[in-house]
Amino acid sequence: RMTIKKSKFVTSLAELKPFPGQGLPEIALAGKSNVGKSSLINSFAHNSKLARTSSEPGKTRLVNFYLLNEEFFFVDLPGYGFARAPRQERERWAAMIEGYLEGSKNLRHVLQLVDIRHAPTQEDQMMTEYLRHYNLPFTVVATKADKLSKAQRGRSIPAICRALAVQPWEVLTYSSEDGTGMDRLLARVEEVLQPEVEPEMPEWAENMPEDDDE
Ligand code: GTP
Ligand code: MG
Repeated sequence: RMTIKKSKFVTSLAELKPFPGQGLPEIALAGKSNVGKSSLINSFAHNSKLARTSSEPGKTRLVNFYLLNEEFFFVDLPGYGFARAPRQERERWAAMIEGYLEGSKNLRHVLQLVDIRHAPTQEDQMMTEYLRHYNLPFTVVATKADKLSKAQRGRSIPAICRALAVQPWEVLTYSSEDGTGMDRLLARVEEVLQPEVEPEMPEWAENMPEDDDE
């Protein structure tokens, strides 16, 4: 299993412009404001000072890039659904999120965070629909698992799956506080970082006539 040995903040973008990522793969974190995106990054990197977190929603206001193991980026996105932020500000964040998600050349995967204690909101549903629409592969991460007992967790996952149309085994349960789910998250990250290999043409197909119809 991979371990995260190095982590550093690289840059913040306020708008979409080419990001000097040297082609390294990016894994973005999306989710409601205050759901724990920045905390996940810190716990995953074993570096509590890496990303700024706050008990007040609306902490992350830019698209922030963190380089892990000099190998890939975690991209911390502003949260959505922060009702108390001025409308203009919220629209600016939404534009930043969409601009990044649609524009990045190196985006490999999105971690869609939801709070394990609550049914996903309409905005969470919109986000997963958006990710599907743009064919962006994603994993739902149900975070703050430390706040529920094992039995309670088992009961809250089905509602999350129904709302977001995902299967229970696809959901990662996580806690930035006590390390729940760390191993599965590492495994998922490792998996999405594998270079995509073109499936080889089987031998029996080699002499097949070319498909001409358009
Ligand atoms: P924005 O930047 O506003 O979008 O929020 P965010 O999603 O980055 O949330 P952040 O990581 O700042 O965490 C918000 C609050 O939730 C902080 O008070 C964290 O300490 C707390 N928190 C985050 N993850 C967990 C967790 O797994 N367990 C517990 N108990 N608290 C958590
Ligand atoms: Mg944040």
